[in-house]
Amino acid sequence: MLQQIYDALPTILQPVAKHTYQSAWTVYESAYYTVYPGKQRPAALHSSFVDSCFDSTNEYQSYRDEFFNGPAKEYLEEARREYDRLGGDGQFGGTDLDTGAALYALVRKYQPETIVETGVCNGCSTLFLLLALHENQTGQLYSIDYPFYADESLAEFKSETFDGYGGAAIPSDRDPGWIIPDDLRTRWTLRLGKAQEELPRLLDELPPVEFFIHDSEHSAPCMMMEFELAWTHLAEGGWILSDDIDWNDAWRIFTQVREPHQVGQIEPSMGYLRTSLKQH
Ligand SMILES: C[S@@+](CC[C@H](N)C(=O)[O-])C[C@H]1O[C@@H](n2cnc3c(N)ncnc32)[C@H](O)[C@@H]1O
Repeated sequence: MLQQIYDALPTILQPVAKHTYQSAWTVYESAYYTVYPGKQRPAALHSSFVDSCFDSTNEYQSYRDEFFNGPAKEYLEEARREYDRLGGDGQFGGTDLDTGAALYALVRKYQPETIVETGVCNGCSTLFLLLALHENQTGQLYSIDYPFYADESLAEFKSETFDGYGGAAIPSDRDPGWIIPDDLRTRWTLRLGKAQEELPRLLDELPPVEFFIHDSEHSAPCMMMEFELAWTHLAEGGWILSDDIDWNDAWRIFTQVREPHQVGQIEPSMGYLRTSLKQH
């Protein structure tokens, strides 16, 4: 919504709007962390992610620069324009560019051969992961999605999945991941169906998985089921990442019980864990 207001402003006003928004956000953030002094700021969480997962800030920054100098932003902007043109009541949703840069950097650094993702929707996270695999010139991404179309009833979709579904939707005449350009699709396999049914089947067919990313149904039972399944199919030194870890207690309980080698957050709602340090 904010993005749409920003896009509709005359170009000359956009820098002023951006500056005002950022200043207001800084004031709000400072007030928030004064009231809740025990909480770690997103920036602190993020630097601890960079320190733990990369050899140096410079190394992380070089992957981030590569990401922002690449086509991701342009693909996403074009996809959003197309989405608005197509109409419908749905929300575009999806992983933002900053989180996308972090996913991209992890895949570029650790060069996974097998990535499994649940929750594709329009395809933002899928795009970021495929761009990294394309640059690595190795690896395959397997995604699972049970799509929600913009012309469907949200109440009906919620009753089929879970009550808290946020409403991210794909245009009614498109497939999940429709924003992915053709030249990135050779490293991608999409399976349609609920993660509860498709994920056990898929993981049984694949070699151990180096990266698993949850972004499908954020109900506690589904998240817990996905984490546990992924854990048993994870390669040594493998990673589990999850969006929306703050929606329920599944991630907190899972990481406490399984005690992975490393656990942290890329940003407040995106968690990661790693089973053990891989030689690289
Ligand atoms: C938040 S969106 C994913 C956003 C995507 N990762 C991105 O960055 O653009 C969640 C997706 O999961 C799908 N979904 C919901 N419940 C599901 C389930 N039980 N199994 C598989 N997919 C599901 C939704 O239809 C939607 O496409």
